[in-house]
Amino acid sequence: MTKRYFHYQSLEQLEQEIRQLNLQIPLESNLERLQAYLGRPVKIGPFTAGNSMAIHPMEGCDGTPIGQPDELVFRRYERFARGGAKLLWFEATAVVPEGRANPRQLLINDFNAKSLEALLHRTRLAHQEVYGTTSDLVEVLQLTHSGRYSTPLPLLGQRHPVLDKVTFLDRKKGVTIPQDYPILSDGYLEQLEDRFVEAARLAREIGFKGVDIKLTHGYLGNELLGAKTRPGRYGGCLENRSRFVTNVLAKIRGTLGPEFLLASRLGVFDSVPYMLDTATQIGKPRAFPIPYPFGFGVNEKNPLEPDLNEPRQVIAMLRRLGVTLINISMGNPYANPHIGRPFEKPDEGNYFPPEHPLIGVDRHFRLCAELQKAFPDLVMVGTGYSWLQHFQLHAGAANIRDGRVTMMGIGRGALAYPNFARDALTKGTLDTSHTCKTLTFCTYLMRQKGHPLGQFPTGCPPFDKEVYGPLVKQARTHKS
Ligand SMILES: Cc1cc2nc3c(=O)[nH]c(=O)nc-3n(C[C@H](O)[C@H](O)[C@H](O)COP(=O)(O)O)c2cc1C
Ligand code: SF4
Repeated sequence: MTKRYFHYQSLEQLEQEIRQLNLQIPLESNLERLQAYLGRPVKIGPFTAGNSMAIHPMEGCDGTPIGQPDELVFRRYERFARGGAKLLWFEATAVVPEGRANPRQLLINDFNAKSLEALLHRTRLAHQEVYGTTSDLVEVLQLTHSGRYSTPLPLLGQRHPVLDKVTFLDRKKGVTIPQDYPILSDGYLEQLEDRFVEAARLAREIGFKGVDIKLTHGYLGNELLGAKTRPGRYGGCLENRSRFVTNVLAKIRGTLGPEFLLASRLGVFDSVPYMLDTATQIGKPRAFPIPYPFGFGVNEKNPLEPDLNEPRQVIAMLRRLGVTLINISMGNPYANPHIGRPFEKPDEGNYFPPEHPLIGVDRHFRLCAELQKAFPDLVMVGTGYSWLQHFQLHAGAANIRDGRVTMMGIGRGALAYPNFARDALTKGTLDTSHTCKTLTFCTYLMRQKGHPLGQFPTGCPPFDKEVYGPLVKQARTHKS
C-alpha cells in the first residue's frame, strides 16, 4: 500500500530495474560526457541559453491579493537564478483576474507590470552576481487562463462527463457544477485572445525574452485542444479546437515581430481522471465512456493510452506560427497527478501511484523523444526528471545525447535543490541529501486554503525548512 519504489544505491541498480520493467530509459554513465551534454549551449530563436538545463514553471501561490509578486516570489526566482540553469521558465501568470487558479496567483496587467519587471530585474541581478553575466540567460513567462480550475468560479471550455463530477462550485460544501452550468461562449474566447496578446506585449515591454501560451494540465488552453464535443467555432474538429491558440500566436507575431520568443507548454497526453481506491489507497481510473471524445493526445478507444497524432499536428501548427520552444508535459495535477509528476508518496488524502513511478518517467521521456525526433529543429524541454533524484543528470544527459530532447527541465527538484545545475556542471553529481524525494509536501501546501489570504504559499518543506517548515505546521492547524 505505501510501497517505496526509489531504493537505488547505484546507477547499475537503477539500470537493472529499468531492464526488469522492460523500459528504455537511457542513462549516461561517463561523468565528463554527462557534464558536456548538460553544459551544451542551446540556441532558442534569436537567443542562446548557456547550458541545456531549464527550470520548469512552478507557481508558489504566494503573490499579493492583486497578483503582484511578494517577497517569497522574489526569493524563489533569486534562488533559481543563482542555481545556474540557463532557461528560467517563469510560473503560470493569469492574463485576466477571473482566470486565476488561486487568490495569490500572479496576474499580468498594466497595473502589475512594474512589479513583474522588478521581479525579472532582481532575478537577473542574482544571476549576474554569481555568473558575471546574464547574456546567456533566457527568461520566458507562462501566460495562462485556469479554465475549469479558476477561482472563485469554474470557467469551462467544454462539458466533461467525468471531470464535471469533481469540478466544484463550492468545495467546502462539496457542491459540484450542475447539469445546466454554461461553457465559456465563443465571444468570451475571442476577446480572451486579445487579453493574451496584450499580456504578451506587456511581458515584452517588461523585458521577458518570450512568452509561453500554456496548453497543459487541464487549464483552459489544454481543455480547448480536447474539446471535441464543444459546439461552435472553438470545438469539434482539430482546426476549431486549435483556433484559440493559433489566433493568439498569429496576433502576437503580427504585433510583436519575430524577435520575441514564442513558446508553449503542451500537454501531449491528458489520460483520464483517477480517484482514490479506499480499499488499497492506490489510484484507479474513474469510470469513463468509450469512445472517449474528451481528452487531448488520448486514444479514443482506450484513453489510458497516448495517441500522438493530434499533438504532432498541433506542434506543426505552432511551428508554422513561429513557436521555437516547446515544453512537453502531460496529465492533469488535480485529476491524475501521477501522470504529470511521478511521485513516491501522495499529498494527504490523495492516492498512491497506480504504477511504478519509473513507468511514468519512461512515458514522459518516450513521448517527448517521439516528438523531438519528429521536430528536430524545435527546442524541446523534457519533463519527469525529479523522481530520479540525483540520477536525473544521467537521464537528462543521455536523452540529450540521443536526440530525444534538447533541454532537461526540472520542476520539484529545483524547489528542493535550486543549485542542481551548478553542481551538475562543476561536480557532475548532486548531493543526495538535498535532492527532492517526491514526497509531495509542496502540493499539500498548494491545496491548503485556510490561510488569511485564502491560499498557503508553497515551496519545499523538507529541504527549505526555514521558510516552509512553519508553513506546513500552520496549514495543518488552519485546515480549510
Ligand atoms: C508546486 C508546483 C507548482 C507548479 N506550477 C506549475 C506552473 O505554474 N506551470 C506549469 O506548467 N507547471 C507547474 N507545475 C508542474 C511542474 O512544472 C512540473 O511539470 C512537474 O512538477 C513535473 O516535473 P518534475 O518531475 O521535475 O517535478 C508545478 C508543480 C509543482 C510541484
Ligand atoms: S516538498 Fe520538496 S521534496 Fe517533497 S516533492 Fe515537493 S519539492 Fe520534492
